[in-house]
Amino acid sequence: MRDIRRGWWRATETVKHRVRPLRDRVVAAAPATSRFLVRRPAMQSLHKQRMFWTDPERPIKPLPFTEASVEAILRQASALGPDDRVLEVGSGLGATLAALVDHGVTNVTGVEINPLAVQRMRELHPQLAGVEMLVGPAEELLAELPDDSFSLVIAVRTLLHTHPDSVGLFATLARLAPMIVTIDEPAYLGRHSYPWDLAAELGKHGMQVVQRRPLVVDGTLSSSTVLTMQRGERRGGHHGLRRWLAAS
Ligand SMILES: C[S@@+](CC[C@H](N)C(=O)[O-])C[C@H]1O[C@@H](n2cnc3c(N)ncnc32)[C@H](O)[C@@H]1O
Repeated sequence: MRDIRRGWWRATETVKHRVRPLRDRVVAAAPATSRFLVRRPAMQSLHKQRMFWTDPERPIKPLPFTEASVEAILRQASALGPDDRVLEVGSGLGATLAALVDHGVTNVTGVEINPLAVQRMRELHPQLAGVEMLVGPAEELLAELPDDSFSLVIAVRTLLHTHPDSVGLFATLARLAPMIVTIDEPAYLGRHSYPWDLAAELGKHGMQVVQRRPLVVDGTLSSSTVLTMQRGERRGGHHGLRRWLAAS
């Protein structure tokens, strides 16, 4: 049944991808037709999102700016040591986790919905061979973990893919660690993205903005933002966080 649904979903996606360029040409030639031909993009259902991210036929490639994102995370995590635990949400091919391990932050965990990405990650980065990976939807797997399981949560170009039905993920992340660093593109509504105001969503659960700055790529400011948030006093401090604040 699952295969039939996936087959149907993939067939409709293929048709859409073939038809869209034609439609775009018509709209470019006669803009008045856009009213009838272009639908506002809406995020797909949670079920379809999960099929999209786990589709074994979707190529998994490193994204642009991966190197700059990894550098920015390392800068933010520079005061963390071997005792600190770091969780990456949507770790993809594992470039950030591998860089953390290479820099001595060895107590890392990833949560990734796509089992093939996890398999590929272990092939690409042998230093992650023994790293604990939670394979499945973050909103479900992380909800089971106790408060303050980690010193730092990181998410690189992942949180804007959170489905509105999974909004509880933000509350979970805010209780799992006293600090969170996210790197994201400007928020937009698309089939696989939602225009979350991450600072506001995490702010509802006691996180406060420490720093918000553009991601620097090859010496130039990019449109992505590195957002660092820490928990307010409500839940108390944390040794890794205090060291990080002292060092930054
Ligand atoms: C745009 S990619 C970013 C990957 C990686 N962080 C990077 O910068 O290369 C988003 C990642 O989040 C994963 N993902 C999407 N929804 C997820 C969910 N609900 N739970 C866990 N991982 C998810 C995808 O499989 C994908 O690997």
